[in-house]
Amino acid sequence: MITLGIETSCDETACSVLENGKKIRSNVISSSLAKHKRFGGIVPEIASRHCLEAIDVVYEESLRQARIRPADIDLIAVTQGPGLIGSLLVGVSFAKSLAFSLGRPIIGVHHLKAHLLSNFIGKERKKSEMVGLIVSGGHTSLVHVKGLGFMELGSTVDDALGEAYDKVAKMLGLGYPGGPVIDQFAQGGDSKAYFFTKPKVDGGFDFSFSGVKTAVLHLISGSQIHKGKTIPKRWKGKKLKDLCASFQEAVVGWVVEKTMRACEEKRVKVLAVGGGVSANSRLRSLLQDECRLRGLALHVPPLGLTLDNGAMIAKLGYELYRKGFSSDLSLTAQSSLPF
Ligand code: KG4
Ligand code: ZN
Repeated sequence: MITLGIETSCDETACSVLENGKKIRSNVISSSLAKHKRFGGIVPEIASRHCLEAIDVVYEESLRQARIRPADIDLIAVTQGPGLIGSLLVGVSFAKSLAFSLGRPIIGVHHLKAHLLSNFIGKERKKSEMVGLIVSGGHTSLVHVKGLGFMELGSTVDDALGEAYDKVAKMLGLGYPGGPVIDQFAQGGDSKAYFFTKPKVDGGFDFSFSGVKTAVLHLISGSQIHKGKTIPKRWKGKKLKDLCASFQEAVVGWVVEKTMRACEEKRVKVLAVGGGVSANSRLRSLLQDECRLRGLALHVPPLGLTLDNGAMIAKLGYELYRKGFSSDLSLTAQSSLPF
């Protein structure tokens, strides 16, 4: 069975052809990231325009690479939400037109659930019950998963983890996106050089990252006046590496601690991680150590599937369709689609 997965929830326009929920025959991604860099974050209007311009080309390229024709598609899966409404609308409208013209079923899927499913493409999911950690630029959530049922245990009350990385990087003048750069600078830095107070958050599994961002701002705000504006002094060399390492150790530590507690409380032996920040080297190594210690099976997506992609959308769509779920042409994009 051939599933086409279409993903346009933010700055990426992606289409993937997935065979029998296992084999990725193509995974084409066009990112508008470069166009956002000078603004220091994603500009929704630029993102949606890019999706609109790119979707035809990305779709055709995904079919060409998979060596199939439109008529070979059996199922169309598309991101319904959550995400930026303008971008989502492009994917959903395109998917509906395609489903109508080809006379094929369509299924709208949840972007964050799909991030977790990116772990199980071509890999057997031996146990259906697990805890899921979703860490991206827009979301940070812990979920309890049973089969294809997802129950949110907690989420961030302010900034998402990726957003905290992006904002701290911006303050340090390191550009956008901040996650990969901070991860890089943290290598070889002293993670004990600076201390950040652990946030106190009500609600067992909620997170908060806005305090650490402000703490970094205070730390670096030995400011200087430049062209009439107050800007922080540029941190460089060893000091910068130490700060990145300390920030990373703090936030990753908090996330891993809560994640382990969720596995314990839910008596679950499997942990799956997804979202852009799952590419983080320290998050991966600390999770590996902690899971080994507790005898938990850890699933982290391959680096090529950590960022937004169509393959994870196709995978979740395929699994849902096999269980008898589908959408129809009344499907609408939902920017804040709940779990
Ligand atoms: O899942 P994603 O592609 O988009 C959203 O749905 O948000 O995640 C993008 C986020 C950005 O905030 C980026 O800084 C972060 O993932 N990111 C990282 C790393 N690579 C990407 N954060 C920390 N360490 C990384 N290596
Ligand atoms: Zn995402």
